[in-house]
Amino acid sequence: MAFTQEKIERNVGWLIVLTLLVVSVGGLLEIVPLFFQKSTTTPVAGLKPYNAVQLAGRDIYIREGCNNCHSQMIRPFRAETERYGHYSVAGEFVYDHPFLWGSKRTGPDLARVGGRYSDEWHRIHLINPRAVVPESIMPAYPWLENAPVDNSTIQARMRTLRKLGVPYTDEEIAEAPKALQGKTELDVLIAYLQSLGLALKDRN
Ligand code: HEC
Repeated sequence: MAFTQEKIERNVGWLIVLTLLVVSVGGLLEIVPLFFQKSTTTPVAGLKPYNAVQLAGRDIYIREGCNNCHSQMIRPFRAETERYGHYSVAGEFVYDHPFLWGSKRTGPDLARVGGRYSDEWHRIHLINPRAVVPESIMPAYPWLENAPVDNSTIQARMRTLRKLGVPYTDEEIAEAPKALQGKTELDVLIAYLQSLGLALKDRN
């Protein structure tokens, strides 16, 4: 062998090159299969892409930084599944671009919050969290109630998502602006929250 371990360790150039090689190959071996593995690329049964209203709500969620305090990823531990429901699986997120899993939990995980509360509860909670949870430290978002949702970019967003593999039909894209008409940012945000985690919800 031309290179003994000793030689490599004494030659910084080779050490850097070979370390990078090992790390890259190791990294690729871990990452590349995920792009082809069925369990990560196939949507779970019953998973639907966000409709125009839910998608607009998701954009508000990102804009307001809700994901800075809320994860959307239930880990497969008993303490988590008893509190939040079935643990999250990759197939639930194939239409999420970008995904909002996160790990910072100032507030509870929201991966399965869909259907847990009424729309009215969310409305009151988002306008003033203290009105329903007196000890809450969540910020209030009162302006959402009076802000009409912007429907001018939704078609471009849906077309972009279609390029990334979300199966929107031409018809769904054509009707998107109409679906958002007359809705407030609060309405669409609640529609998004109510859609979260439903595909696997009943399989606890
Ligand atoms: C500063 C951190 C913080 C931010 C930012 C934040 N939240 Fe919260 N959220 C909390 C905390 C803490 C709770 C638990 C107390 C409560 O229910 O108000 C909570 C609770 C919730 C709940 C109830 C969850 C449950 O299972 O009971 C929902 C829904 C929610 N937040 C949605 C949102 C949305 C939507 C946004 C963005 C518009 C947001 N949160 C932004 C901290 C935050």
